[in-house]
Amino acid sequence: MSHPAGSRRQTSLTGIKPTGELISPEDGGTVHLGNYLGAIRPALELAQNYDSLYFIADYHALTTQRDPEALRQNTRDVAAAWLACGLDPERTLIFRQSHVSEVFELMWVFACVVATGQLERGHAYKDAQQRDGSPNAGIFNYPVLMAADIVLYDADVVPVGADQIQHLELARDIATRVNHLFGDGTVVVPRAVAANAPTVPGTDGRKMSKNYGNAIPLFCPAKQLRKAIMKIQADSTPLEAPKEPEGALVYDLFKLVASEAEQRSMAERLRAGGFGWGHAKQELYETLEHQIAPMRERYLELRRDDTEIDRILEAGAERARAIARRTITRVRTAVGID
Ligand code: ADP
Ligand code: TRP
Repeated sequence: MSHPAGSRRQTSLTGIKPTGELISPEDGGTVHLGNYLGAIRPALELAQNYDSLYFIADYHALTTQRDPEALRQNTRDVAAAWLACGLDPERTLIFRQSHVSEVFELMWVFACVVATGQLERGHAYKDAQQRDGSPNAGIFNYPVLMAADIVLYDADVVPVGADQIQHLELARDIATRVNHLFGDGTVVVPRAVAANAPTVPGTDGRKMSKNYGNAIPLFCPAKQLRKAIMKIQADSTPLEAPKEPEGALVYDLFKLVASEAEQRSMAERLRAGGFGWGHAKQELYETLEHQIAPMRERYLELRRDDTEIDRILEAGAERARAIARRTITRVRTAVGID
């Protein structure tokens, strides 16, 4: 992970917030299929070609999270999910945002160059303002902390969902402004790369989210997984009738997890008639279960005892801190606080 000047590899970075109510690991924990297919899996694919840093954004979660035990457990839960889904901690840094306190130093520098008007135009802030009237200042400053997360580690590409693009643009603006004010090369300006990640629909057809009651938990027991899949909305076309797969929720989800041959085969059977949505759901379940079962086993093993996760997170933070210190030293010198 060393970045000798001029010859460094490109870096990808992303954060996942450990939010949500406490769900025990045996019941599947906090991570859902949308998180996996829309964030974790694409980021792990990117990690094959980039130096990568993936962190648990626990201080971002604090903008809404009020239950310390849930925050503690969800943090380990998200870390366990990344590891169980295949993150290799030797190659890819995984750590807690809060373990690298340099991020707050950089955040302050950024807060001193960004206009409040720009933060007032933030979608997330405006939504929170409509809901609460006077949201907490953490929500107002959320994008500044996120910009610091990104720039602290010299990130080039940042895979995020569509809802985070505005934050990324702000991070680019801030980084560009810092370089303009304090000298080119003070910080790396991130590229706004949204991974070509899908938006995963939930069982009701809306975006899958833990806030909508439509999520399929990633690591719940097989029986519960089947039950959640059987709840996916489908029309009541009779079993014998031919059915159009494209646009049907079950098939949309199947496409995200099945091979091309499997997709073609299911599409043909649906179009031929005599193959019902219930059959399609069963096949989706079996395909998913086949992929998830080994990951679930690893996840449960990691969640049984916190020692290994805590050790991996601390080792990741140690390596992340080394990168962070280099950036902070550069920034301090550039602004005149050295
Ligand atoms: P939730 O909406 O359930 O609260 P989060 O906002 O915590 O999920 O999302 C964590 C990560 O997973 C983010 O990178 C987000 O873009 C991604 N993600 C969440 N839901 C989906 C979905 N339905 N489809 C694709 N990606 C998703
Ligand atoms: N705001 C992101 C989300 O809600 C999480 C996040 C925090 C993040 N810091 C980041 C994502 C830095 C990418 C880069 O999903």
